[in-house]
Order: sequence, then structure tokens, then C-alpha cells
Amino acid sequence: MNRTPPFDLASYLRARQTLVDAHLETILAGERDVPRSLIDAMRYSLLAPGKRLRPCLVFMACAAAGGRDNDALPAACAVEMIHTYSLIHDDLPAMDDDDLRRGRPTCHKQFGEALAILAGDALLTLAFQVLAQRLPPHNAGACCLELANGAGAAGMVGGQVEDLALEARVSGEVAHTVEALERIHAHKTGALFRACLQLGVLSAQVEESAKLDLDLCNRLGQFGQNFGLVFQITDDLLDVEGSAADTGKRTQKDAARGKLTYPGLLGSAESRRHAQQLADKSLELLAPLGVKGQPLMALLHFVLDRKR
Ligand code: IPE
Ligand code: IPE
Ligand code: MG
Ligand code: MG
Ligand code: MG
Repeated sequence: MNRTPPFDLASYLRARQTLVDAHLETILAGERDVPRSLIDAMRYSLLAPGKRLRPCLVFMACAAAGGRDNDALPAACAVEMIHTYSLIHDDLPAMDDDDLRRGRPTCHKQFGEALAILAGDALLTLAFQVLAQRLPPHNAGACCLELANGAGAAGMVGGQVEDLALEARVSGEVAHTVEALERIHAHKTGALFRACLQLGVLSAQVEESAKLDLDLCNRLGQFGQNFGLVFQITDDLLDVEGSAADTGKRTQKDAARGKLTYPGLLGSAESRRHAQQLADKSLELLAPLGVKGQPLMALLHFVLDRKR
């Protein structure tokens, strides 16, 4: 009997976290002529113990498209740099004003606001430098474009603006509706997750002559978008139900700041149901991939049940 063994997500994540951390360290060590204080702040936040979910999605999509982990490493590092910069800025007093991140004082608490802003700027820039330098020339431009779309004004940054604008006018002209909420989550979180999957598929195109599987790219991009929504709903739930000890960040903050969140709008049980429904729809997108979709399925289940 030829049965595929069940996918061991815990070992998979551990191995990829080690791989990506080592590579991030090498990239930072290779940065020359950078002020000591700046590189210290960048390293402090980038190498703090995050889950490395976005890099793992790049690896998984690359493998589903027939590529190897080494092909995916530049994009995996680039998305983690973008994500870390977004966390540093998200925590600033002008934004969510947080003092704990990844179980440590936030970057601005440790290094001051000016250096934290600049460390974020430097990580954002370094992400595109890594793609431009380390990807084959036929791929670098397309990958930079996907990442810019996911991270930029029409993606994550725009979503952060919408998140803060709604917080500021609790009873203003933008109604607190599920539609408004979905729009914010789709931009602030979904767009970067979508980019992770697309970068993974693109990274598998090591030969210029290889044909890009557009159906796979679109399918996984859509999966990434949904994955991001499920992820943000569970993030919002953890703010209500989780603890700082488990999540490594302060909890019970969103309601106090007047954030528009799923549990705030629909309650925890309905939010969980919604996340499950979205996850079920996302799993359908993976069905044509067969066994190649298994790691992505496992990661989605992990996100639904996560405590951190
Ligand atoms: C937190 O992201 C920020 C959101 C987009 C909700 P993660 O929960 O992936 O943070 P780390 O990388 O594990 O610290
Ligand atoms: C942040 O969402 C999304 C980003 C783009 C960084 P949150 O503000 O909910 O993230 P946490 O809860 O601080 O990690
Ligand atoms: Mg925020
Ligand atoms: Mg925040
Ligand atoms: Mg949150």
C-alpha cells in the first residue's frame, strides 16, 4: 500500500525558521558602512522570535510550483523584512502605541522613536535590495512589483491608513460595517499574504524559458488573500482572548482604542465561525494541487487554532 505520511508541520516550521533566520543574519552581516546603532535596531527587531509565517508561505508556494527552498530564500527574507518594518511602525506612539512585541520591548522603547522609524525605513528598502541583488534578472522585476503591490499604498500601507482613520472617527462618516472591516483587513493584512504566495510561485521560475503557471499563481494568490483575512480575524480574537505571555504583545487593546475588529463587531463566536467558513473556502482553492497543497492546508489549520 502506498500511503503518503501525514505532513509534520511542526518540524517543517522549525527547519524553515532556522533557515530563514540564518539567512537574515547573513544579509545583515553583509551590510557595510551602516551606522552601528541602525544595524543594531534592525537586527533587534528582525531577528526577534517571530513565527516566520510569511517566509513559510513563500517556501510552500515555491515548492507547490516545483521549486526548491534555496530558490525561495531571497523572497522569504524580503517578506519578513517588510513585515518586521510594518510591526516597528505599527507599534509607534503615533500608531498603535505599543510597548511589547515578540516578547520584548518594542523597537522605539529600546532605541527611541527616531531610530525605530529609520530602522523600519531601512528594512523596507533592504527588502527590495535583496530581491534585486539575489534573484535571477528575469525574475527580479516581477517579484519587486508583486511585493510593492502587496506592501504599498494600495495594499498594506493603505490598509494601515484605513485602520487608523476608522479608529479616529468612531462615529464618523465611515460606518462600522462588515464590508468596511473586510476592506481594511484585505488591505492591511491580506495583500502582503497574497504577495508571499505569488513571490513563492515566481521564485520557482529559475529558468527564464520556464513557463509561468498563471492558474497556480492566481489560485495561490487568492488563497493568500483569504489566508490573510483568517489570520487577521484570529489576531483580533487573540487581542480579546489571548495573553501577553502567549502572544508576546499586549492584549485587550483594540477595543480600548476603538479599533474596528471582527470580535468587536460580531462577537467572538461569530468571528470564529466566519474564520472557519473562509478557511473552508480557501481549502477548496487548494484541491487541484493534491498532495502539493498539504503544507498550505496544514498552515491554515495552524492559524485557525493558534495561541500566538
Ligand atoms: C502580527 O503578525 C501582525 C499582523 C499582521 C496581525 P504575526 O502574528 O505574524 O507576527 P510575528 O511575525 O509572529 O511576530
Ligand atoms: C497590524 O495589525 C497589521 C500590520 C500591517 C502591521 P495589528 O495592529 O492588529 O497588529 P498587532 O496586533 O499590533 O500585531
Ligand atoms: Mg495596527
Ligand atoms: Mg498593532
Ligand atoms: Mg492586532
